[in-house]
Parts: sequence; structure tokens; C-alpha cells
Amino acid sequence: MEQILRNLFLFLSKNKNMTKAAKKYGLRFGASRFVAGESLDMAAAAIADLNRKGLSVTIDYLGEFIDNEQEANEMADQCIEAIRMIFRKNLDSQLSLKLTSMGMDISEQVVMNNMRRILEEAKIHRVFVTLDMEDFPRCQPTLDVFKNLKAEYNELGTVIQAYLYRTEKDIEELNAYNPNLRLVKGAYKEPREIAFPEKIDVDDNFKKIIKKHLLNGNYTAVATHDDKIIDYTKSLVKEQGISHDQFEFQMLFGIRNEKQLELVKEGYKVRVYVPYGTDWYGYFMRRLAERPANIAFVLKGLFKK
Ligand code: FDA
Repeated sequence: MEQILRNLFLFLSKNKNMTKAAKKYGLRFGASRFVAGESLDMAAAAIADLNRKGLSVTIDYLGEFIDNEQEANEMADQCIEAIRMIFRKNLDSQLSLKLTSMGMDISEQVVMNNMRRILEEAKIHRVFVTLDMEDFPRCQPTLDVFKNLKAEYNELGTVIQAYLYRTEKDIEELNAYNPNLRLVKGAYKEPREIAFPEKIDVDDNFKKIIKKHLLNGNYTAVATHDDKIIDYTKSLVKEQGISHDQFEFQMLFGIRNEKQLELVKEGYKVRVYVPYGTDWYGYFMRRLAERPANIAFVLKGLFKK
């Protein structure tokens, strides 16, 4: 049953009509548990609150799979606004974005122009930028953009997904760039030809790449809510004498809030991924797919305005 629900939510996450309707009608169905708000001001307030609690942040203006150049340019403008806000309010926050929101599906020229505009601003204001990883067809294009831009902009990172068979090789190849990588399990629906279908294999591969990337001497963001992976990372760094400056834990806004604070208390760096904006639908569906028990929030949300 859980697998059926998971597939259903992942299928729904790519529905364009629902995405449009969601933008029009605003945050609904309990989505505000996972999304800081629709405006940059609301996101700023959420970041300030998290910072006060000792948590670092990466902010994400929601949007993905954009096929219109003007919209992609506007998305980039919003990212620039977010960078300026982080600087102006002196917040402890990085920026995360999806390349399909910057025009990667439109043309190389559009995505590179938008990324250069953002990274120039990020350089001036010293804000680190992470390229989120999307579905499999966008994996190689995302890594290509990353490699291209990393030569010009040092404060740039990307994401590697443990569920893909290709991942270990990617970690090895990327080592030449000494990259700051966020390592995750992977959130999209991928066929068994390219991704481990069993959770246990994904978890094993996750541990393998955490170890490899850390032992290569690179900065590692372990992005998970899974206690087993968190405990594995803690033991590994202790055993290998890896400094707390070389890694951090990352979690999503609204998920395991108490665990986030517990890790801070234990002396670990923790960064919270804070999404905001009107394009919340796809992001929300993926959070439901990760934990169909969250459906209770949807049901409650149905009875709210
Ligand atoms: P797992 O799914 O095994 O969950 C472990 C436990 O965590 C669950 O038992 C539950 O207690 C809790 N939990 C997990 N998800 C929950 C949810 N939605 N609601 C409530 N509780 C939940 N993916 C991707 O493909 N590209 C990307 O760029 C990113 N970026 C990213 C950034 C950050 C900061 C995080 C934390 C995650 C991502 N992801 C991502 C998502 C990632 O791939 C993965 O889908 C989720 O993190 C869920 O996997 P876990 O590692 O948490 O383990």
C-alpha cells in the first residue's frame, strides 16, 4: 500500500495543471508545514527564527520544470532578490535552486545567462549556492553546468543522489573539483534500470558515498532525517578523526524539528532547507511520497480554508 501511495504522489508531483492551480489558490492542504510562506518576507522571518535557534539555512525559491524564457528570467531575478535580502538582513543562509527553473530545459544559453547573473551577485554578497539535483534526465546536464561554472565561481556546490547506480563514479569524477556536495537518498521516481529499487541498497550506497567523499577530504553535507545514517556519520567522523568543520547535517523545513535542535546541542552544524514561493505543489507532493503518513496533514488541510 505504501509503495502504491508513494508512486501515486510522485506521479502527481509532475502534473502541470495541478501545479498551475496550486499557484493560483495559494498554500493549501497542510503544505505550510513544509513551506515557509509565499513571500520572501515570510521566508526571511522563518530564517531569522531558525538562526536564533542556532540553525543555519539554505533558502529555495520554489519552481521547477519551467519551459518559458521569461519565467526562467523572473525566477533568476527572485534568486537575486533572495541573495540581497540575506546580505541586507545579515542572515546565516545559503541559496539552493533547481536548474530547470533557470531555463535548463529551454537552452544552454538561457540557463548559463541566468546562472551567471545569480553567481555574480552571490560572489559580491558571499552567499554559497547549491544546484539541487532533479530527475535522472537532468542529472548529467546539471553536473555539466556545475563543472562549467565551478571553474569561475568557487562558492558553488551541487547534490548527489544515493539511489542512482552511477553515483559512486560521479563522486570519484567530481573529486577533481574538491566540491562541497550535499548527499541525499534521492526524491524522484526512477526506473530500476538506473536506480536501486530497494531502500536497503540505497542506504548502503548512501553510507558508501558519505565515507568516500569525507575521506577524499571534501566538505560534505549529509542531508537526511534518517537516524541510522546520522548515527553512521557521527561514528565515522569520530573514528576517522574528521573535524566538525568538514561536514554538516541538513534537514528540510518542518521535518524532525526537535532532532535538528538536538544535533545543534551536541555540537554539530545543522542547516535547514527553507522553501518559499507560490510554486509549492511539486515539492509538497514529493514530501508526501517520502512519508505517506503525512497524508493526515492533507486531510486536516482539506477542512481548513
Ligand atoms: P527516509 O526517507 O528513509 O526517512 C527517514 C525518516 O525521516 C522517516 O522514517 C521519517 O521519520 C523522517 N522523514 C523523512 N521524510 C519525511 C517527510 N517528508 N515527512 C516527515 N518525516 C519524514 N532529493 C533530491 O533528489 N534532490 C535534492 O536536491 C534534494 N535536496 C535535499 C535537501 C535536503 C536538505 C534534504 C534533507 C533532502 C533533500 N532531498 C533531495 C530529498 C532526499 O532525497 C530524500 O527524499 C528525503 O530526504 C527523505 O529521505 P531521508 O534521507 O530523510 O530518509
